[in-house]
Amino acid sequence: MLAVDKQSSEFLYRQVIDLIAENIESGALRPGDRLPSLRRMSVRIGVSIPTVRQAYIELERQRRVESRPQSGFYVRGIAGNPLVRPSPPDADRLAQPVSVSGISLMERVYDAIHQPDVVPFGIANPCMARPAAKSLNRAMKRVMSRAEERSITYAPTHGDPTLRRQIAYRYLDTVGSTIEPANICVTNGGQEALLIALQAVANKGDIIAVESPTYHGLLELIDSLGMLAIEVETCPEDGVMLDSLRETLKAHPVSACLFSTTLNNPLGASMSEKNRKELVEIIDQNGIPLIEDDVYGELLFSGHRPKPAECYSKSGRILTCGSFSKTAAPGYRIGWLVAGKYMEKVKRLKRSYSCSSGLLQQLTLSEFLASGDYDRYLHMLRPALQCNAERMRSLVAQHFPKETRTSNPVGGSVLWLELPGDISAENLFDDAIEAGISTAPGSIFSPCNCYHNFVRLSFGHPWSSKIEESIAWLGARVQHQLNG
Ligand SMILES: Cc1ncc(COP(=O)(O)O)c(C=O)c1O
Repeated sequence: MLAVDKQSSEFLYRQVIDLIAENIESGALRPGDRLPSLRRMSVRIGVSIPTVRQAYIELERQRRVESRPQSGFYVRGIAGNPLVRPSPPDADRLAQPVSVSGISLMERVYDAIHQPDVVPFGIANPCMARPAAKSLNRAMKRVMSRAEERSITYAPTHGDPTLRRQIAYRYLDTVGSTIEPANICVTNGGQEALLIALQAVANKGDIIAVESPTYHGLLELIDSLGMLAIEVETCPEDGVMLDSLRETLKAHPVSACLFSTTLNNPLGASMSEKNRKELVEIIDQNGIPLIEDDVYGELLFSGHRPKPAECYSKSGRILTCGSFSKTAAPGYRIGWLVAGKYMEKVKRLKRSYSCSSGLLQQLTLSEFLASGDYDRYLHMLRPALQCNAERMRSLVAQHFPKETRTSNPVGGSVLWLELPGDISAENLFDDAIEAGISTAPGSIFSPCNCYHNFVRLSFGHPWSSKIEESIAWLGARVQHQLNG
């Protein structure tokens, strides 16, 4: 119970510190939880606001809580060991273009995610931490009552004009950049945007530079198009290492680069503004296109949306892929491609693959954005994800062997763990799935199967005791493997 003793010789702010500490120790306050506001706390325990503030600031100095701008003070988790930079185990192996391997393991990972009642640590699905289903359903009903026959017909090939306008407006509103609606092609999710972008700029046998590690779905695309991938060292904090990129471009005839400038999946790394500008310079100097995977652009915990590299380029050689899958509704399968000078080719490819994307979903998302509900939803989703990230990192630090290294994502919905010793994340995947827990083993994030002792765990779920027990189970299993 919260109480202070005004007769005690102990300073009041010290007593407030002890109260918070007791509540953290008892588990009443957990990592990621927000402390009561200064005003509320001061009323509840009958001390002044400056006294509460002094206590919170001291707790922050002790690194037990952190303050977040315009939001309040939050309980910090146990951080564990950070990933070292750069994280790839074997830089020499990365230096050659390769055909993608490990496709059958990717298939098993996908199958596992969709097993009934499985704990879905293997899928990056941020929206499920706080699904927007009710408000999207309401938006869809409004659309259906207005649109009638129109809601079941074909959309224009490159997308409904109102949605393209909303997407363009959002770039203006969040990063202050002008993207013309006519330069946007609506696609079936980010995945089709990536597929079309790759086809627009490269051919079978061409070499594509990717981050190491990188999103496995994109490796599958490179494989299905008969292209080769070359990995570029990527830092857990700053994203692609630009010196390594320069070396790669000097040594190999790379046809295109495919990078996530904001929130690499699985590292959670984001490039600084300076590095984005430098990346654009490198791209321009070498005269090659950059496909920018920006599907996580809106999911930094801070709410700040970095400018896509696209906004720094005048060459028209950057194609930016976006999606509503990570920020609203993965099942709607609506993404987009800002296509630069490749727009005509992109439209042709889109027409030949799928004619157009679902109109009802496009109109619904357009309504969702226009009503302001999208913004309101993201304001709730980001803190929910940040809270989950804090909790998951703490539980990993508690239950996994102490040598385990953990990423510190600044947004998104995944943690990337480096397991100690020679532990096989693929064996862990097999054992875990027997226990009803899906994971994403590290080797699927590398075309040449690096990262066999890494695992990606998703925290994009409503938090529950089952989630906590499953993290503890995985930690115990890794410890068991380590003990041999
Ligand atoms: C980095 C990255 N790019 C693209 C995609 C594909 O997004 P969508 O579900 O919109 O096709 C994903 C999905 O997991 C992803 O993580």
